[in-house]
Amino acid sequence: MTKITHAVIPVAGFGTRMLPLSKSVPKELLPLGNRPAIHYVVAEAIAAGIKHIVLVGHAQKSAIENYFDMNAELDNQLRQKGKDELADSLNWLPEDVSISMIRQGQPLGLGHAVLAARPVIGANDFAVLLPDVVLDPFTTDMQQANLAFMVDEFADKGHSQILVSRVADADVHKYGIAKLSNAEDLQAIDDNHNSDSVDNLSFAVAGFVEKPKLADAPSRLAVVGRYVFSNHIFDYLENTTASVGGEIQLTDAIDALISQYGVNVTTMQGNSYDAGDMRSYMQAFIYFAKQQLNDND
Ligand code: G1P
Repeated sequence: MTKITHAVIPVAGFGTRMLPLSKSVPKELLPLGNRPAIHYVVAEAIAAGIKHIVLVGHAQKSAIENYFDMNAELDNQLRQKGKDELADSLNWLPEDVSISMIRQGQPLGLGHAVLAARPVIGANDFAVLLPDVVLDPFTTDMQQANLAFMVDEFADKGHSQILVSRVADADVHKYGIAKLSNAEDLQAIDDNHNSDSVDNLSFAVAGFVEKPKLADAPSRLAVVGRYVFSNHIFDYLENTTASVGGEIQLTDAIDALISQYGVNVTTMQGNSYDAGDMRSYMQAFIYFAKQQLNDND
């Protein structure tokens, strides 16, 4: 298999859990420390070798596209004032990376948003990164771990990869939850979780349940929001109808993919932050700001 170079980042959500902050600013542009949240997600994708990023949004999200575009007028003004270093720091995207934005049309769910990127992704295999989830860039090597690991696994074995992490019982209903049929794999995941240094491990998965009640949850392994898909996922998304929450769920298409092709879960290394929920966003902001203040000491 070839290495994944394409990624889809859905940015169409209205961010109701982040109101009033997200009323006039897309939630993806709210700061975590000294950068907008989506900056870290795009940097993570690039560290994993992604070259072409497709943002799937709507009219009120064009500020995200502007953030990643070069602002020639600002660039000129900064350079005229001798602020070349600042101007350079704004042009941080590598030259071989492209970011484009398309619109989802109707907001029919995450599966629908990913499918909307099909005309741009074409026949390529691709990654999906959900921008509500920001992985800790300070303690994790993004060139090796998590998405980078999943990209390598996919290139090696050809199995789609889905990042999971253990969540508390109280949080199970917020996530897609993985079902593993092999008890030894679950034991290995537990041992890994309880060890001093948690590694990325990859295991075959039997299915997912989207936002189950605790009693119906097949495990405590939650889908974190990083996926590497073979292009076949698009065919399944085409045939996926609305389910949980009246939305076209990515999780349902993944279940269909599992029945025909190998799909693995990858256990997450390091911490993740939910930047789409007010309480955890505020905790994340404090953590990111503290790290950056310490760096500048
Ligand atoms: C989505 C997915 C879910 C996943 C979650 C991660 O749900 O449908 O499977 O666990 O993202 O954040 P959402 O939070 O968009 O409702």
